[in-house]
Amino acid sequence: MEDRIKALATEVEAFTASDKQGVEQYRLKYISKKGIISELFEEMKRMPPEEKKQVGKILNELKQAAEQKLKALTEMLESSSSSSVDIDLTLPPIPNKIGNQHPLTLTRNRIIEIFERLGFNVADGPEIEDDWHNFSALNFPENHPAREMQDTFFVEKNPDMLLRTHTSNVQIRLMTKQKPPLRAIMPGRVYRNEAISARAHCFFHQVEGLYVDRNVGFADLKQTLYHFAKEMYGKDIKIRFRPSFFPFTEPSAEIDISCLICKGDGCNVCKHTGWVEIAGSGMVHPNVLKNCGIDPEEFTGFAFGMGIERVTMLRYQVNDLRLYSENDIRFLKQFHTVI
Ligand code: PHE
Repeated sequence: MEDRIKALATEVEAFTASDKQGVEQYRLKYISKKGIISELFEEMKRMPPEEKKQVGKILNELKQAAEQKLKALTEMLESSSSSSVDIDLTLPPIPNKIGNQHPLTLTRNRIIEIFERLGFNVADGPEIEDDWHNFSALNFPENHPAREMQDTFFVEKNPDMLLRTHTSNVQIRLMTKQKPPLRAIMPGRVYRNEAISARAHCFFHQVEGLYVDRNVGFADLKQTLYHFAKEMYGKDIKIRFRPSFFPFTEPSAEIDISCLICKGDGCNVCKHTGWVEIAGSGMVHPNVLKNCGIDPEEFTGFAFGMGIERVTMLRYQVNDLRLYSENDIRFLKQFHTVI
């Protein structure tokens, strides 16, 4: 009997439980009324008095040890579960990071935001376009060398169809569908048949803007683009307008900003001029308005177009256009916006 009690004492001491069930099993096995220790007490009662005294002592010790163990096990369990109760379940969850937005998307959204505050809507149009919307309506005469300014991908089976070379096709679609006042920007993908290099790609993205109403003048164009440049690049940016040519605008101007990389001192990006071209612009040519059924005697308008890649390049100092479409996670990871 004494040996059995000693063996049980070691067993009790060594017992571990990791959950409620384990503790309950322990209680049932050793401490409950039908447990081993109660059975031993029953046996003890039938013993002769001298032995009873001896066995009773160690059996009581075992009982106490077993009860203490139960207390310890229960406390351990409570303290571990009470720590989980400490978690504040009303807190919002930590969001799963599912990825970053593409730098071109970030820039496009920023451009849209700036122009939306000036009252411009966002308009959309097809990437596969007919010659009329991409060229003829925009005052590019048939076989005129101006069409060569933009190397075009034509659809093989139907040479009247092409991949749009600029988002100006959306200007035409807007002006033929709606009557002035019109104020919209048109972001989208465009295609040109150019060899792929750090500075050119066969597709890229533009945001074009169009404002047609009574009494729209060049001063409105200038002020709008001044405002845009300052919002996009900061108050210290310098802006200049350079006379240029586009078939669909007259007069036309290209817009340069002071180089953000060298702050105007001259570097590779600005080809040591201190200036970087960011947009083409001009007053909508009267022929374009006429082609769309708008009377150029009554309405005037301005238009501008810029490359999203170029804006992004200056914003984030990206020096190779190809990075935008290679999908290299190491590149994409650098543009943080939590979604
Ligand atoms: N469509 C011209 C281009 O792609 C940009 C432009 C738009 C210029 C509107 C003037 C006015 O180069």
